[in-house]
Amino acid sequence: SRIVVLISGSGTNLQAIIDACDDKNYPGEVVGVLSNKEDAYGLTRAKDANIATVSLSHKAFTTREDYDQALIAKIDAFDADLIVLAGFMRILTPAFVQHFQGKLINIHPSLLPKYQGLNTHQRAIDAGETEHGVSVHFVTEELDGGPVILQAKVPVFDGDTVDDLSARVHEQEHRIYPLVVKWFAEKRLTMQGDNAVLDGNVLA
Ligand code: GRF
Repeated sequence: SRIVVLISGSGTNLQAIIDACDDKNYPGEVVGVLSNKEDAYGLTRAKDANIATVSLSHKAFTTREDYDQALIAKIDAFDADLIVLAGFMRILTPAFVQHFQGKLINIHPSLLPKYQGLNTHQRAIDAGETEHGVSVHFVTEELDGGPVILQAKVPVFDGDTVDDLSARVHEQEHRIYPLVVKWFAEKRLTMQGDNAVLDGNVLA
C-alpha cells in the first residue's frame, strides 16, 4: 500500500509508521509526507528516511476550499491508497473528506467520543478522569466524529501534569497507529457506511 502522511509538527507518529515500514514484512510504504508548516520537524524525519516531502502553506490561499483543493492535487500525485493524518492541525472541508472517503484516518488523543477538539489532556485532568487514552478513527465530515477503529487506554494518576499524561498517551499512539495502518494495508479494514469493519466484524 502507498501511504501518504499529513503532519503539522513533530511527527513522532509519522516516525513510528516509518519505523514499522522498515520491516520487510510490513505491507505498506510511506511514499510522501505533506505539511502545512514548512518548519515542521516531521519533514526532517521524512527527508532522513528518503521520503518525498511537500510543504504547502495555507497562508497563500484565501479560502479553506482553495487550500484543500490544492492539497488534494498534491496527495493525488502520490497515487495514495491511504491518507494518514498524524498531528495535521487543520479542519478539513467536506470536499476533501469526501474525495478520500474510506481511506482517510486520524489519531486523536482522547477516548472518543469524549474530548473532541483541542487540549484533550488538560480537559481530562480538569475533569478528574482516572482513565484517558487515544483513538484511531476513520475521518468523516464530523470533526473527530468518524467511526472508531482502535483505542488504547492509559491511567491518569494524581498530580499528573499535561506533559506526564501526553507522554503516556504518545507511547500508546506509537503502538496502535502502525497497527491500524497495517490492517488497512492488508485490506482487512474498511469503512462501510458509519462503521469501521475489521475482518468482516463491525468495530464498536
Ligand atoms: C498526537 O497527540 C496526535 O494524537 C494528535 O497530534 C499529536 C501529534 O503528535 N492528533 P506527533 O507530531 O505525531 O508527535
